[in-house]
Amino acid sequence: MRVLICGAGGFLAQALVEVLAREHTLRLFDARPLTTLHEQIVGDVADFETVQKALAGCDAVVDVIMAHESTYAGPATTAFDTNVRGMYNLLEAARLQGLRQVVHMSTGSVFTGHPGDSLHTGNETPLRADSPYGLTKVLQEQVCQYFADRHGLAITAFRPWGICDAKLGVTKYGPAATTSWYMIDRYDIADAVALALQRPGSGFRGYILPGNAAARERLDADAVERDLGWRATRL
Ligand SMILES: NC(=O)c1ccc[n+]([C@@H]2O[C@H](COP(=O)([O-])OP(=O)(O)OC[C@H]3O[C@@H](n4cnc5c(N)ncnc54)[C@H](O)[C@@H]3O)[C@@H](O)[C@H]2O)c1
Repeated sequence: MRVLICGAGGFLAQALVEVLAREHTLRLFDARPLTTLHEQIVGDVADFETVQKALAGCDAVVDVIMAHESTYAGPATTAFDTNVRGMYNLLEAARLQGLRQVVHMSTGSVFTGHPGDSLHTGNETPLRADSPYGLTKVLQEQVCQYFADRHGLAITAFRPWGICDAKLGVTKYGPAATTSWYMIDRYDIADAVALALQRPGSGFRGYILPGNAAARERLDADAVERDLGWRATRL
């Protein structure tokens, strides 16, 4: 398949590009120019014409764009333009072009608005945010649900918590311990995305991604294991 990776210059995307390139022809889309041998489009996901150009001729889209941390504060936050308007642009362009297969990277932060941390979080737990970032991610999932319901797109949203590279001992913020229950290796996520791209049928599915044994105790791991045959192996 010809797969568009949106946000291809980011931390998670480094693993995604490496893993998906084994099976697919990739086109990379990011706000900043990348050093790569793959075809690339540089531009802002909030600009609909740019997004249409990026999707043209593709069979599937993987969205891992994230507005920069500095853009969530203040009254004129641009994070909503990037994350929410950008999500709508991607799916509307997909709909117009007859492209149906979409994988979107959500986050465990769509659940952290629930009080306490005793909750056993499952895929059916209502989405509830406790930060502007989490709120943009909840809204993104609602946009996904809408396009799946109304227009028959096949959209898989993954909800990881902290993303790391276990081999390098880093997160995107620098060196870090990777032993916490909420950590997941970026190559495990890339494997899940590769499986989701083969998912038959249509509709919206949101999956929690437990990255290790401790996470499997407190999060629902059954659905993603059953539906996609995926289980984290690196932590
Ligand atoms: N990093 C984590 O710990 C973590 C945890 C849970 C979920 N997530 C989710 O995983 C995904 C990837 O996260 P990451 O940490 O790899 O992100 P990242 O910040 O490393 O990469 C995001 C990429 O998006 C690009 N981008 C930003 N604004 C853009 C715009 N307007 N138009 C086009 N491109 C734009 C950036 O240039 C960057 O290359 C995100 O959806 C994020 O919400 C991340």
